[in-house]
Amino acid sequence: MSGGTNKTFAVAITGASGAIYAVRTLRALLADGHHVHLAMSKYGRYVLHEEQDWSSDESLLDFLRRVGGDEVDHGTLEEHSVNDLTRSISSGSAPCDGMVVVPCSAKTLSAIAHGTSSNLIERTADVTLKERRPLVLVVRETPMNLIHLRNMVTVAEAGASVLPAMPAFYQKPTSFEDLGDFIAGRALGLLGLDHELFTRWTGPRD
Ligand SMILES: Cc1cc2nc3c(=O)[nH]c(=O)nc-3n(C[C@H](O)[C@H](O)[C@H](O)COP(=O)(O)O)c2cc1C
Repeated sequence: MSGGTNKTFAVAITGASGAIYAVRTLRALLADGHHVHLAMSKYGRYVLHEEQDWSSDESLLDFLRRVGGDEVDHGTLEEHSVNDLTRSISSGSAPCDGMVVVPCSAKTLSAIAHGTSSNLIERTADVTLKERRPLVLVVRETPMNLIHLRNMVTVAEAGASVLPAMPAFYQKPTSFEDLGDFIAGRALGLLGLDHELFTRWTGPRD
């Protein structure tokens, strides 16, 4: 982990498969001591519940503590309703060092590509782009149609980093957590953060 200055990031969880990537990203940002503004869409919550051992009876922070230990208390988590556009992260005047949408559905990708800003996730992504801060979209859909592909080009042209949920296998992952950490680590890297979530490729062994 960076161990450097604590920063503020927005994290959004939308209704694509791959909730483990969100969990590993949140754990890493919090363990590194950052302040995280979190917004979950209705289907983001649903998929998180389906894919992870979490139910909405438990706060997400308690869940992260249960799976990640006290390390997550190095940082702070501030959760917002996805329908509340009055939150600070809706405005470019609020301090924020970047945003990651993890996982990012094709629907939210489309909304960001077209600047609709109809919920807190879409608005915060729009603000992040207009303020020229790092925006990382962990897009997850397969196969992709031409609309998905064009929307990825549009957001990339607008300054976002498209980080498809495609973990690499050269680190020889042995668990789902390893796969999650690879994507979380790439997201942290694109946010400008150092991390030790996976071993970097340093060339052939011989
Ligand atoms: C179990 C489940 C898995 C889904 N997986 C994906 C997916 O991997 N990618 C995707 O683009 N949409 C997926 N969807 C569909 C989205 O949830 C749906 O398009 C929704 O409107 C997305 O809205 P949101 O971006 O506001 O969360 C899934 C839906 C469900 C119920």
